[in-house]
Amino acid sequence: MPTSVLTFAEKKRRHERIVVITAYDAITATMVHTAGVDAILVGDSVGMVSAGYETTLPVTLEAMLYHTSSVARGARGAFIIADMPFLSYQCGHDDAVRNAGRFLKEAGAHAVKLEGCDPALVRRLVSVGIPVMGHIGLTPQSVYAFGGFRAQGKTAESAAHLVEQAKALDEAHCFSIVLECVPATLAARITQSVKAATIGIGAGVDCDGQVSVIHDLLGLSTGYLPKHAKRYAEFYKEGLTAIRSYVDEVRSGIFPAAEHSIDATEKPKPAPLTEG
Ligand code: KIV
Repeated sequence: MPTSVLTFAEKKRRHERIVVITAYDAITATMVHTAGVDAILVGDSVGMVSAGYETTLPVTLEAMLYHTSSVARGARGAFIIADMPFLSYQCGHDDAVRNAGRFLKEAGAHAVKLEGCDPALVRRLVSVGIPVMGHIGLTPQSVYAFGGFRAQGKTAESAAHLVEQAKALDEAHCFSIVLECVPATLAARITQSVKAATIGIGAGVDCDGQVSVIHDLLGLSTGYLPKHAKRYAEFYKEGLTAIRSYVDEVRSGIFPAAEHSIDATEKPKPAPLTEG
């Protein structure tokens, strides 16, 4: 059975952990889908891990539509959640509905994710058939309001505020809520108090599922790795070694060898075209 919003509820009920990974292009989406995740998040983190921005704020609606459609082509049959970028849903509900709808209508997403807590907007989107994943805690689009990328919910007041937000999003029918960089005990409390499946990132093991950024997981970055992230591979280091070998081989004339060169007598073997 392909994943749907119902899978999130079902897995929460059965205490089966939900696995989500980000992807931004067709080939990583194929990898993530083939590995058997429950859902792919096309996060606006693409702005930081791939486009080189220092925050997610510059990411545009058009860029997110492009990345979402790339992911949808690479991972047919996957459940795809598209992140709505900064100012694509904060400037009035009519615009927000229209923009969210484009992810489903044009880009192949099955749900959208919104940062913060606007239950009236969530209700409106759900009422027109757009499933919504909430996102509270460290919401990167508010980085300047927070004074930096800071964990949230560490004081009693801030924890109570997050519990209230989670309940409001749950009552507005978010099918799932991302909890980012909040204390594990608070995430566990929220998880128990809402029907929506909680998906943690830096929120401990007691969430209903986890989401990781693909570049962190694959080691496809040069610098800072957030405390909550775990590297499962060293793609940057291995890629660099491969690229250096190529540079050396081209300079020394080892590449291209005879087998990489076109022989005038050889019958052409065109690369297969995939459908779709
Ligand atoms: O943009 C993103 O990748 C996200 C996840 C970190 C939850 O919002």
